[in-house]
Amino acid sequence: MDTVTAPLQVTLIIGSNRHGRFGPVVADWLLGRLRDREDLAVEVVDVAQADLPTTFAPGPGASAALAEITPKLARADAFVVLTPEYNHSFPAALKNLIDWHYAEWRAKPVALVSYGGLAGGLRAVEHLRQVFAELHAVTVRDTVSFHNAGASFDDEGRLEDPSGPDAAAKVMLDQLAWWGTALREAKEKRPYDRA
Ligand SMILES: Cc1cc2nc3c(=O)[nH]c(=O)nc-3n(C[C@H](O)[C@H](O)[C@H](O)COP(=O)(O)O)c2cc1C
Repeated sequence: MDTVTAPLQVTLIIGSNRHGRFGPVVADWLLGRLRDREDLAVEVVDVAQADLPTTFAPGPGASAALAEITPKLARADAFVVLTPEYNHSFPAALKNLIDWHYAEWRAKPVALVSYGGLAGGLRAVEHLRQVFAELHAVTVRDTVSFHNAGASFDDEGRLEDPSGPDAAAKVMLDQLAWWGTALREAKEKRPYDRA
């Protein structure tokens, strides 16, 4: 299959690592939306399983964690980052995973999905836009956010009313697919070497 028609390789990053976290419920819904699409192929990196040191020093622990994670970031054409809001921003463990990498983010699009309390994680989303700009990644405009996320899902982890989130996810993933395809084609013609 040539790269024009090959599905876009998307890595979903699950950004929460709290004991008893709600993140996997939102992640399951999001994975469903991603896997529904024939234009996307999906892999997952979960920061709760990443076990990356918070000091930037080489060592066996870091090497083992990076051997698992880095290839999934490197081969991605595009990313979806799922983040909760902790103290008006995104989790430290997610920042740590981002900071352990550089080239893997460059000239790739990032879609942002958030959940939290009243603000639905949107402050975490806006902070992530600043971080990814520094890494030469482009965040897509539209997001999906869940306000008071626990109340949006039933005990089985299904959305009480999926119509709004499903429609928002389609808009966001269409944008991600456009940017991912456009940047993949552009990089084939002209490598990105802007610093
Ligand atoms: C340390 C901490 C700080 C939080 N700060 C906020 C916040 O500033 N705004 C908000 O809307 N929710 C906040 N929350 C609520 C979380 O967004 C909510 O509990 C969410 O489910 C956390 O994701 P997780 O369950 O996957 O860890 C906070 C939760 C924690 C644990």
